[in-house]
Amino acid sequence: MPDNTVLVLVGSLRAASVNRQLAELAVESAPAGTTFELFDRLGELPFYNEDIDNDVVPEPVAALRAAAARAGGALVVTPEYNGSIPGVLKNAIDWLSRPWGNGALNDKPLVVIGAALGRYGGRWAHDETRKSFGIAGPRVVEDLTLSIPTGTLDGKHPRENAEVVEGLNGVIGKLVSEIG
Ligand SMILES: Cc1cc2nc3c(=O)[nH]c(=O)nc-3n(C[C@H](O)[C@H](O)[C@H](O)COP(=O)(O)O)c2cc1C
Repeated sequence: MPDNTVLVLVGSLRAASVNRQLAELAVESAPAGTTFELFDRLGELPFYNEDIDNDVVPEPVAALRAAAARAGGALVVTPEYNGSIPGVLKNAIDWLSRPWGNGALNDKPLVVIGAALGRYGGRWAHDETRKSFGIAGPRVVEDLTLSIPTGTLDGKHPRENAEVVEGLNGVIGKLVSEIG
């Protein structure tokens, strides 16, 4: 039975990823009684292929689906790549969308945030991630977002920016209340 565990996914595989830092800040900032679980293995997922989506799926896929099943909701933290969703994240969406109509995140609240270099902080990617997850099964919380232009961080960790910390805490609190 899913409880107040939130699955956290990051759309960047880069070691020094600003989005991973944001995700780690979310994990550290989890309200009392909740656990934010960062699933850090998106780079291990094979490309989605219906031929291998059978009773026995590749182990990283099984691990992702199990983490999603344990969670009552999800926080997705992603940059923008060429105006859209990074491939590694889109691939995870496709795996999570199956079994169709019965995916591990079905009907669970999901929020998309992130940081990107451009002046809109990756808003296109965030909009498209919401659109895709909205089709894939989760209940996307449409009016809740945070798109951070990385330049506003001055090369520092997001936890050193009071506005970002406040915005992130607001997002986390609302997401947890959506899980109810
Ligand atoms: C392949 C690629 C495409 C990118 N396209 C965009 C883009 O369309 N818009 C944008 O704001 N930043 C773009 N960027 C810059 C990223 O937003 C920036 O590198 C960001 O810090 C990546 O997130 P990360 O720090 O979590 O890895 C792109 C970066 C890469 C590597």
